[in-house]
Amino acid sequence: MTLSAKEVEELKHAPVVEGVLPVFHRRWSPRSFADREVTPGDLMKVFEAARWAASSYNEQPWRFLVGTRGSEAYRKIFEALIPFNQMWAKTAPVLILGVAKTQFSHNDAPNRVALYDLGAAASYLTLQAAALGLATHQMGGFSGDAARKAFGIPENFELGAVIALGYLGEPAALGNEQVVAQEVAPRTRKALGEFVFSAWETPAELG
Ligand SMILES: Cc1cc2nc3c(=O)[nH]c(=O)nc-3n(C[C@H](O)[C@H](O)[C@H](O)COP(=O)(O)O)c2cc1C
Repeated sequence: MTLSAKEVEELKHAPVVEGVLPVFHRRWSPRSFADREVTPGDLMKVFEAARWAASSYNEQPWRFLVGTRGSEAYRKIFEALIPFNQMWAKTAPVLILGVAKTQFSHNDAPNRVALYDLGAAASYLTLQAAALGLATHQMGGFSGDAARKAFGIPENFELGAVIALGYLGEPAALGNEQVVAQEVAPRTRKALGEFVFSAWETPAELG
């Protein structure tokens, strides 16, 4: 017997910190997705959130290739995933591939922060999804070459990550014992002092 989807959802929520938007603590990355479609309206909303991320020179270098289950785009993204990710991501009703243009459009100079900007937009997307009661799971485990070839992505675009999107499913449905154990394990994070510094590796005094 493992935890139910409802129980695991409670467990994965990080402790509330007064004044911090609850959605930051509620987003987490499940691997089990329910057999329930995402409405076109909700899909639009997650991209609308991504749209308003900040970016260097307002380049908005992100591009998202989106596939809903049964579509050609879904198949192309799914086939690029490594086998471990395919094992669980097959239950997600939506797969999204994020890519970033690595040249500025105004002068063709290299955009060294293109992936940074894509990551910011992807974060907005995942948080908006959480606010809508949707789950996301980002993946770096995929073949960039396969995805590039399948979609004809030009050389001046860098591959970011794939995002599985859908509703949380039952942990037990994952089948694999180790994956189920990860699904129901508490989330962990570094303490603030380990990554917020006032000098190199010296924790900043906060509050
Ligand atoms: C860029 C990126 C790549 C990731 N790649 C994978 C992946 O290939 N497979 C996987 O199962 N999880 C992947 N993850 C999920 C992380 O393991 C997960 O976000 C992390 O353990 C923190 O858990 P949380 O998102 O539930 O807070 C990835 C996450 C990010 C942001």
